[in-house]
Amino acid sequence: MRFGLAAAAAAAGAAAYGLTRPGVRAALREDLETARRRDPAATNDLVTILSYPGLHAIWAHRGLHRLWQRPAGRVPARLLSQAVRTLTGVEIHPGAQIGRRFFIDHASGIVVGETAEVGDDVMLYQQVTLGGTSLQAVKRHPTVGDGAMIGAGAKVLGPITIGANSSVGANAVVVRDVPADSVAVGIPAAVRPARGAGAAQAGGDRAGARGPGGAGGADGAGGDSGRTAGAGGSSGTRGEGSAGEAPAGSRSQDSSRPPAGSRPPAAPAADPADPVDPAVLVEPALWI
Ligand SMILES: CC(C)(COP(=O)(O)OP(=O)(O)OC[C@H]1O[C@@H](n2cnc3c(N)ncnc32)[C@H](O)[C@@H]1OP(=O)(O)O)[C@@H](O)C(=O)NCCC(=O)NCCS
Repeated sequence: MRFGLAAAAAAAGAAAYGLTRPGVRAALREDLETARRRDPAATNDLVTILSYPGLHAIWAHRGLHRLWQRPAGRVPARLLSQAVRTLTGVEIHPGAQIGRRFFIDHASGIVVGETAEVGDDVMLYQQVTLGGTSLQAVKRHPTVGDGAMIGAGAKVLGPITIGANSSVGANAVVVRDVPADSVAVGIPAAVRPARGAGAAQAGGDRAGARGPGGAGGADGAGGDSGRTAGAGGSSGTRGEGSAGEAPAGSRSQDSSRPPAGSRPPAAPAADPADPVDPAVLVEPALWI
């Protein structure tokens, strides 16, 4: 309890310090704008800042990921990430590589493993696991492409790829690659093309279409050098042909319904006068 209060006080002090930096303010604005797009209930920025544990966990992770990249920082990063888990219910390993505009709605019970790679504009709901199936110290967690949505309770296991702009249904268990622009539901998840995927892409209105062009031209938030998420478009070598897979176009098309995952519009262009500097996205190292 005392540790929690101390951690909260340290976070508040670090946040106050961080907010004196323009780049941190720009990153905060981007995160709040993402919350507004992703959650219709996020109508008041102050309430969002104070009450969205998913955002708190993401802010903490940016700093912890930077700490993790220093050999001497690994132990404190692990310990602090456990404190963050206690406070938020979100366990993101500090080694995980997370892109920009990541959003976790109703954050609780989230686990993101050490070698997970998450692209830009990815959204998770509560109780999602991006977990491993191997005990070897190798790439053993999923890669999630830009614009993917993973529904409540879904488990995505192993070094598989969820392709860009794909949706994983609530409570699915995904153990094979999911190609880009697909929907995966069930246990084990069966994959089908997303309804209207082609049309939506042609219209360029997919949320995962790196909205602001990397907001200020920056990409690779959190100093994620070598991040490969988003390469999922070429995946599917293992996942296709799953039992029960619905053939493309086998469902009647209902034009009155939005495409899978009810994706919000792409993020607006960043304010060029106040770009998000990728270096400052990790400044919140001081926030915790
Ligand atoms: C997977 C999902 C994206 C599919 O959206 P969609 O493309 O609009 O698909 P539909 O709702 O038209 O359903 C298509 C088919 O998949 C089935 N289906 C949808 N979601 C499913 C799920 N999570 N698990 C199993 N089957 C599912 C439907 O029953 C339907 O089956 P049918 O073709 O036999 O009738 C969506 O259903 C989903 O699970 N979203 C996650 C949302 C979430 O977690 N919300 C939490 C808010 S707190």
